[in-house]
Amino acid sequence: MKTTLITGGLGFIGSSICEALLQKKFTDKCILVDNFGGYMNPIKDGFKDFRKQRFPSLKNIIIERCDTSNYKALSSILSKYKPNYVYHTAALPLAKVSNLNNEEAKISSVDSTVNIIDAINLLKNSDKKYQIDRFIYFSSSMIYGDFKKSSVTEESKKNPKDAYGIMKLAGEVVTEGLCKLHNIPYTIIRPSAVYGPKDMNRRVSQIFIENAFKKKEILIQGKNEKLDFTYIKDLANGSIIAARSKKGANEIFNITCGKGQTLYSYVNYLKSEFPKLKYVIKKRDKTKPSRGTLSIKKAKKLLGYKPKYSLKDGLREYIKFLKKNY
Ligand SMILES: NC(=O)c1ccc[n+]([C@@H]2O[C@H](COP(=O)([O-])OP(=O)(O)OC[C@H]3O[C@@H](n4cnc5c(N)ncnc54)[C@H](O)[C@@H]3O)[C@@H](O)[C@H]2O)c1
Repeated sequence: MKTTLITGGLGFIGSSICEALLQKKFTDKCILVDNFGGYMNPIKDGFKDFRKQRFPSLKNIIIERCDTSNYKALSSILSKYKPNYVYHTAALPLAKVSNLNNEEAKISSVDSTVNIIDAINLLKNSDKKYQIDRFIYFSSSMIYGDFKKSSVTEESKKNPKDAYGIMKLAGEVVTEGLCKLHNIPYTIIRPSAVYGPKDMNRRVSQIFIENAFKKKEILIQGKNEKLDFTYIKDLANGSIIAARSKKGANEIFNITCGKGQTLYSYVNYLKSEFPKLKYVIKKRDKTKPSRGTLSIKKAKKLLGYKPKYSLKDGLREYIKFLKKNY
């Protein structure tokens, strides 16, 4: 059996992957490396502390408090557990904050990625029996910048428009380059607009739902603004398939719902659950790239990835969770 290490393992995506891996019995244990920076719910009078909902049980989960910018500490954790799979999700995941703090965004997305790959290589060189099955880097749809067509493929032009997208793309370059140099099998995942239980970074999907709960007006910036909203279980499942499949080695995948949908349609789905919901439509935020569908044809063909959740089904499940935990 296998050991899995997840950087950012207390976060939204990392903790969901951990849960899915253990549920499917794809790993013996998960080592969660996190600096505890983002796991407190920042919403005043909002959702409860999500730590309690993170994991139903901590069986086979080991939490190591460590910042991925600390090479020495990271290296000693890797030597201690010798993980077969490393899912690298730790990063400053917010575009707005990254734009204001370029250096912090660089440290979290670029330097940390160099550190972890370098530490894996050091372990490989010092312990000849050690074998890494896959290093998985979590990138973003923001690396594409403005979508030139309604749908982008993995081959589409990368033209990030903000510091977040720039650093995420630099992390991809580091992953491809260093993993090839050190003969480490890797997979790059490009998610988009992930929503679902445990999210607490106050991206648009969460803000809309939170406002619906609080009976606050929703602000739609751009009626036709599209995002490829992806339910967390589909992303977790798709990332795991990509990491475990031989065909996923040294490849890049869009892992999304595969369907760009307008912010307006998201709000309309919410309206069926919250009939009194109010919203206002304003002009689109020009500082954000104009996006749409991330084609998942490659993941379907090579990995057999098939997202299960329509936006309607995902939202229904998410709202059920929030009603229980709000
Ligand atoms: N959620 C989305 O919609 C989305 C979309 C595209 C890409 N991504 C990418 O997926 C990854 C995970 O995002 P998320 O939504 O789970 O974010 P999150 O904030 O919920 O989780 C990130 C976790 O990483 C930890 N962390 C951050 N910096 C760290 C560091 N230097 N050392 C150790 N731990 C650190 C935080 O404490 C947090 O627990 C990020 O790389 C993000 O860029 C997310």
